[in-house]
Amino acid sequence: MSGITVIGVAAVTMVIATIVTASPYTCHAMINNNHHQQLHPIILIPGAGGNQLEARLTTEYKATSLLCNRFYPLNKDKEGWFRMWFDIGVLLAPITECFADRMTLYYDQQVDDYKNARGVETRVSQFGSTQSLLYLDPSFKHITSYMEPLVESIQQLGYKDSQNLFGAPYDFRYGLAPEGHPCNVGTTFLENLKHLVENASNANDGAPVILVSHSLGGLFTLQLLNRNPPAWREQYIKHFIALSAPWGGTVDEMLTFASGNALGVPLVNPLLVRNEQRGSESNLWLMPRRKQFPLETPLVVTPNSTYSSFDISRFLKDIGFEEGVHPYETRILPLVEKLAAPRVPVTCIFGNGVSTPETLYYGEDGFDKQPEIAYGDGDGTVNIASLLALEDEWKDEKDQKLKVIKLAGISHTNILKDDTALAQIIDEISTINSDVSSSPFVSSSRK
Ligand SMILES: *[C@@H]1O[C@H](CO)[C@@H](O)[C@H](O)[C@H]1NC(C)=O
Ligand SMILES: *[C@@H]1O[C@H](CO)[C@@H](O)[C@H](O)[C@H]1NC(C)=O
Repeated sequence: MSGITVIGVAAVTMVIATIVTASPYTCHAMINNNHHQQLHPIILIPGAGGNQLEARLTTEYKATSLLCNRFYPLNKDKEGWFRMWFDIGVLLAPITECFADRMTLYYDQQVDDYKNARGVETRVSQFGSTQSLLYLDPSFKHITSYMEPLVESIQQLGYKDSQNLFGAPYDFRYGLAPEGHPCNVGTTFLENLKHLVENASNANDGAPVILVSHSLGGLFTLQLLNRNPPAWREQYIKHFIALSAPWGGTVDEMLTFASGNALGVPLVNPLLVRNEQRGSESNLWLMPRRKQFPLETPLVVTPNSTYSSFDISRFLKDIGFEEGVHPYETRILPLVEKLAAPRVPVTCIFGNGVSTPETLYYGEDGFDKQPEIAYGDGDGTVNIASLLALEDEWKDEKDQKLKVIKLAGISHTNILKDDTALAQIIDEISTINSDVSSSPFVSSSRK
């Protein structure tokens, strides 16, 4: 999620014995998966920080320091592109500052949209392939591995990259906006994703697609579904599997905005990256949502005041990020007001029973100092109420299939690596593939 923690979690390889609380499926689904059965194409939508991002500096760019210009980046291609996210080298303090400066987004009130830092162009590489989702820094595959273990497990079912298995990398710093607000980068991503869904289906005899998201990717995917007509969803979407989706935001995000998040690495000073993290539109999208964090629950406590999810504007002002108030009120609040049911089958899989920040206590020293934290249930990053939000939101929806699988002791990113978690995800994919009740090829014969 706050993408940036992806690294830290990856660096600390955790092996936790787990008890799976979900009722395991029988194995016949696996056995059914022989070579004769056609597989539904799968598209992976990563979380924030979950794919590589490339950048190029134009003549308008002004470096923060001489050092920055000379030593970062060390390698560029002929056209000046370099991998900005991620490069292990930026963990060196002077470079961290420079990196954060280039990664920062700005909200432009005149055009009512977010934009890159002046003189910085960005792009994702290999849209459609899983390549840029596997590792964040290919020079350090082991410690920056992201979706590699999941992709490998999926490939063992017979899936092949760019044939029936696809990846949808995006510029995860940007979010989406409600209708009536410009949102160039986010809506372009949704259009590309829509075309990828159609292409994936067309390339596989018209079989509808299984969407598998992680974290923030789930919020984008739900928007994709709800922004396309029911007939489109029926033709192209078989199932939506959302892993670790922070439907109702997180308290952890308030910590990121107030005091920065150290890229998950103890050596990095969180204040060096705080400004960049505050600028991110998708981070703002993940502020605690009112329905999951009720009025009477204090999320942040200081000697001066107390803040609940109803006080986010005042919180942004008090931490010294008043620029965030207008986009939060006009773009984020209306966007998160409703989590509409897409009427395609949805499975939420997530960890629970991991200590997750629930209340932040700041002392006299203010927000520059890391707070004392009271922990509650969740996946270590996302609070349990947020992970469970769809159950509550859709309880009266008659035509919405929703299945929830909880994995005890599995953390937010470990869900993509832990063997027990991977087995559950693969089992769910196999079950979906062996479901002929709504035959995958009905839709193709109807065309
Ligand atoms: C979809 O396929 C068309 C035709 O092959 C191609 O031009 C386009 O780039 C593809 N789009 C995506 C998002 O895969
Ligand atoms: C509380 O208020 C004092 C005085 O206005 C200020 O110096 C301090 O930074 C504030 N602390 C917090 C955590 O808001």
